[in-house]
Amino acid sequence: MGIPLSISSDLDLELEDIIGQCIGILGIRGSGKSNTAGVIFEELLRNNYPLSIIDIDGEYFGLKEKYEVLVVGRGEGVEIEVDENCAQEIAQISMEKNVPVVVDLSGFLSEERTAFLREYLDALWNLAGKLRHPYIIGIEEAHEFIPQGVKTELKELIARIALRGRKRGLGAIVISQRSAKVDKDVLSQAGMLFLHRVVHEVDMRVYSELLPWRKAETKEIITALSTGECVYLNGDTVIPIYVRERETFHAGFTPSLEVVVTPELKQVSQAIIEAIEHAKQGKGKKNRIDQLEEQLVHLESEALKKDETIARLEGIARTLGYIKVEVPQPVYPDVQNISKAIVHSVEHPGGSGSHIPAPSYSSVRRVAVNGEHVSAAAPVGVIDIEPLESSGQSTSLPDAVGRHIERIVGRAARGNILHRKILGFVIGHAPISYSVDQIAAWINCARGVIDNDPPRDFLDAGLLVRERRSGKMHYHSNLKAFVAREFGLFQPDIAPSDLHRIKVMLHARLVQLGEQ
Ligand SMILES: Nc1ncnc2c1ncn2[C@@H]1O[C@H](COP(=O)(O)OP(=O)(O)OP(=O)(O)O)[C@@H](O)[C@H]1O
Ligand SMILES: [Mg+2]
Repeated sequence: MGIPLSISSDLDLELEDIIGQCIGILGIRGSGKSNTAGVIFEELLRNNYPLSIIDIDGEYFGLKEKYEVLVVGRGEGVEIEVDENCAQEIAQISMEKNVPVVVDLSGFLSEERTAFLREYLDALWNLAGKLRHPYIIGIEEAHEFIPQGVKTELKELIARIALRGRKRGLGAIVISQRSAKVDKDVLSQAGMLFLHRVVHEVDMRVYSELLPWRKAETKEIITALSTGECVYLNGDTVIPIYVRERETFHAGFTPSLEVVVTPELKQVSQAIIEAIEHAKQGKGKKNRIDQLEEQLVHLESEALKKDETIARLEGIARTLGYIKVEVPQPVYPDVQNISKAIVHSVEHPGGSGSHIPAPSYSSVRRVAVNGEHVSAAAPVGVIDIEPLESSGQSTSLPDAVGRHIERIVGRAARGNILHRKILGFVIGHAPISYSVDQIAAWINCARGVIDNDPPRDFLDAGLLVRERRSGKMHYHSNLKAFVAREFGLFQPDIAPSDLHRIKVMLHARLVQLGEQ
């Protein structure tokens, strides 16, 4: 007789049944997946079963109401903010010291999430190979990380854990609202499935392949499931069950009008927190040294280039000392003044009293900068989006989407002013690609400044793209792809047209940041 788990009164499940298992929890939004996962986690924690939960929406910190769980990452309930540099240490502490961990990724951008998970899961996989004791990893929104038909390093890692972790005692709980988008190999190999309600035909097809029933029967049973009910599938056992409600605070609950009070939360031991802080500081120092070394190499190569330029110019000066050439004085347009005037006229449309001549957009559509033609495209003429007011949409976006927009804007607002100006200009003039010379003329700075300090933060975040063309660096906006990547995950709660609305909102906010 093993240790019983109290997941559902309709189900006799024991702790031993979970070891090394790949468990799938599927269903549409609001069908009760996170509750089911939360109940399983509660039962595991009650029995001191070590685990990690990869939490995309910051829903699981409430487990601390009853259990000592370490919450790391970036988000509302996080105890220690960490990035991928500490991922290995946290994995080690979790596995070696049996500390349950919630990795809250809700405040990370997409690349940061991927980078963290690659480090973290790789470390868990390697440690499990050495320690070989039971451990389980829960992954919310699994379709994001193990998408059907796409190959990524992270997907291979998760699929490896799900399919081959058993020998190491390593199990996985994959949770997804997009059954059809989760890698089929992982789903078909899952030894235990909790199939909540689905409605879309594509998801129903996936269920039909997994369940031993006729198609029509499957559809009838699955569509009749209400919140918290699901079909439990394990080998020959196929039974509809009702999963009990979570005992601990569920931060991802569907909001109602009742006032919600966040409960008092348990803390993991201070020694563990200190160990992570220590690792973090060590990494921080190391990173700073790496950064300074990189800067040094860069500055040395810049100094070398400048020495070469000085030597070349000195050569030219010597030659010019011997000859006298008279050339008529060419008349160049005053680029500085023109760009100032354009900025001025954008900031004060129709305004008067300026000492700078304020040409209309059409009169400065093409000006020469360093012999190169600059498309002085007027913002209003080039923006490839319609303004929010005219989009005809009035439905509000889900709160989580609003929060994510604020997070992205907040992070951009923390970027330095030069980077924000570059971002604002390039996004404001999408989809055209601009050379460094052109951007420098528009935002009124020396070209070398951008070369020396490119907007790495926004390039890394995927908001901007930089590429070399005809020997020169060019920048263009990547906002559309960025929005699809960052917010695609909220579908089907939001429609494709909402992605467009989000893009319009972000466009306006990011352009504004460049003007502050
Ligand atoms: N077994 C249950 N008994 C009572 N209430 C439940 C049960 N399961 C879920 N709920 C409630 O239903 C709502 C939705 O549940 P949950 O957040 O688990 O859904 P979900 O499928 O994870 O949704 P999402 O895809 O949006 O994350 C929550 O308010 C939750 O408290
Ligand atoms: Mg959920």
